[in-house]
Order: sequence, then C-alpha cells, then structure tokens
Amino acid sequence: MATDITARIIKQEQVGLGQYRMNLYAPEIASRAVPGQFVYIRCSSSLDPLLRRPLSIHGVNRERGELLLLYQVIGRGTSLLAAKRQGDQLPVMGPLGRGFTLPEPERRVILVGGGIGVAPLVFLGNELVRRKNPVLMLVGARSIHHLPLGREGGNNVPFNVTVATDDGTCGYHGPVTDLLERALAGREVDMVYACGPGGMLRQTAMLLARYGLPGEFSLEERMGCGVGACLSCVCKTTGEGERPFRYRRVCVEGPVFRADQLVWDQEECING
Ligand SMILES: Cc1cc2nc3c(=O)[nH]c(=O)nc-3n(C[C@H](O)[C@H](O)[C@H](O)COP(=O)(O)OP(=O)(O)OC[C@H]3O[C@@H](n4cnc5c(N)ncnc54)[C@H](O)[C@@H]3O)c2cc1C
Ligand code: FES
Repeated sequence: MATDITARIIKQEQVGLGQYRMNLYAPEIASRAVPGQFVYIRCSSSLDPLLRRPLSIHGVNRERGELLLLYQVIGRGTSLLAAKRQGDQLPVMGPLGRGFTLPEPERRVILVGGGIGVAPLVFLGNELVRRKNPVLMLVGARSIHHLPLGREGGNNVPFNVTVATDDGTCGYHGPVTDLLERALAGREVDMVYACGPGGMLRQTAMLLARYGLPGEFSLEERMGCGVGACLSCVCKTTGEGERPFRYRRVCVEGPVFRADQLVWDQEECING
C-alpha cells in the first residue's frame, strides 16, 4: 500500500556528471520498500511541472527512516530536484510498483546496469548479499565521467563491480553486454537482473534466451498518473490463450518484468 507524504531532504550530493544522490527522511516508505519499487516525486512546490517524476528506490536505512535515490539530470523535473537543498521538503508517493523476485539463497546473480539504471540494482544487490547470494554487478557507462556509482566505483557496495565504458576511459572498452556474454559463456550465473537503456535490455534478453537463463528487467517508461489509471506507461508483453500479446502498465504491473515476458519488436515498449 503506497502512501503520499511530505519528505524532508537530509542530504543531497553530486556524484558524477549531472548525477545526484539524495537521502530523504521518509520512514513510512522506507519501512515497506522492496528492491525494484519506485517513488513518484513532485519536483517543485508549485504545479509546474504538473506531473510527478518516477525514481527507483536506490536504498533504504530503516533504522533512520531514510530513503536513498540516485538520479541523472535529464530535463526540467530532475533539474529542479538537483537544485533542492538539505532541509527542503518534497511530496513523495510510494513505495509503488512490483519489485524484483528474489532467488533462492546461494544462487549466483549478475546485475547489469546501464548508466543510471544501476539505481534499483544497488538496493537489490545489498539485499541479495544479505541473503547469501553471490553477486557480481556489471556497469556500463558512456565514459569514466558518467559512471553512476561515483569515481570510487564499486568501493561503496558489498559486492564485486566490473565496469565497461563506451570510450574505454575506465574498465572494459565496449558495451557492458560483452562482459555479460563472457560471464554467461563461463556458466558463472543462475539469474540476471538488469536496468538501463532499451538497446542494452534487448541485447541482454537475447543473451538470456541463447543461454536459457532467467532474468528480470526494470523498465523506465514515461509516466502520467503513476498509479495505473491513465495507461500512458504501457509496454508490450506476451499474451495468453488467443491473445498473442498484451499491453501491461509499467507503473502497477511493473516496473519489473520477466525478461521472457517482454516483446522487443516494438520500439514503443522500451525507451531506446
Ligand atoms: C519506474 C521508473 C524508475 C526510474 N528510476 C530512475 C532513477 O532511479 N534515476 C533516474 O535518474 N531516472 C529514473 N527514471 C527515469 C526518470 O523518471 C526520468 O529521467 C525523469 O522523469 C525525467 O524527468 P525530467 O523532468 O527531468 O525530464 P523531462 O523534461 O520530462 O524529459 C526530458 C527528456 O527526457 C526524456 N525522458 C523523460 N522521461 C524519460 C524516461 N523515463 N525514460 C527515457 N527518457 C525519458 C523525454 O522524452 C525528454 O526528451 C525512472 C523511470 C521510471 C519509469
Ligand atoms: S502512469 Fe498512468 S497507468 Fe501507468
């Protein structure tokens, strides 16, 4: 059950090029959030912009009642968020959506994050480590300056992180899915979770199908109402019986979907 609260900013820091990490005091949401869920935030104190913006829950500190967000400045809403300071207050609705399914303990997991798509995967990775799942995170970014976990990379998380950059300025020179393919070929994994740009997700889905492995993806569709009423966030998924496919709402039936549930031949399903 989601709540709509006014949350106070405890801390806001820039961690990369246009990337910010924000701690919010939101005990009602932090106490119930699970990895893969998101919050729907009003970015200004006026009604402009009218629509709230969805951001994944990047982490929680339940003892302190804190919610952690990691976001990239894209347009008006996220620019307004980046201008907020400690002590400012924001209307926040959450936790919303369906989170990740957690595997059996001991199952080996790979997390694949493209850019700011690492945001929900860090929350998931922390939970999996607590449950004794071996975790490797593969992070892809345009360059060293766009690495979403900050310049210290994976030093702040309790699992191994391997980096790929498009321009070769850090880690492997090439797409992060090359790293995933190597890991799958080495049979080092039982389950894959991913979040990032559409091209990366599509390639990841193809690799999972080729190696016969299960996966779950978190989608970042544009949203209107955030609670299932407006249908602006639908994506194309496999159907049942006589219906070859079905449109599902990312805000309530997602944002997490099984990789083999998603239909990839339609560009409108996933933001490229
Ligand atoms: C469930 C969910 C979780 C998300 N989690 C995170 C997160 O943890 N961190 C984060 O940085 N971002 C996340 N996003 C994306 C984030 O919501 C958008 O970047 C944000 O809404 C953009 O708002 P804006 O006002 O800054 O940009 P706008 O002014 O609304 O848009 C600027 C440009 O960005 C494009 N755009 C807007 N929204 C999206 C989107 N969802 N996907 C692709 N392109 C878009 C627009 O088409 C436009 O060209 C998430 C999205 C969803 C649906
Ligand atoms: S955003 Fe309105 S139905 Fe999903």
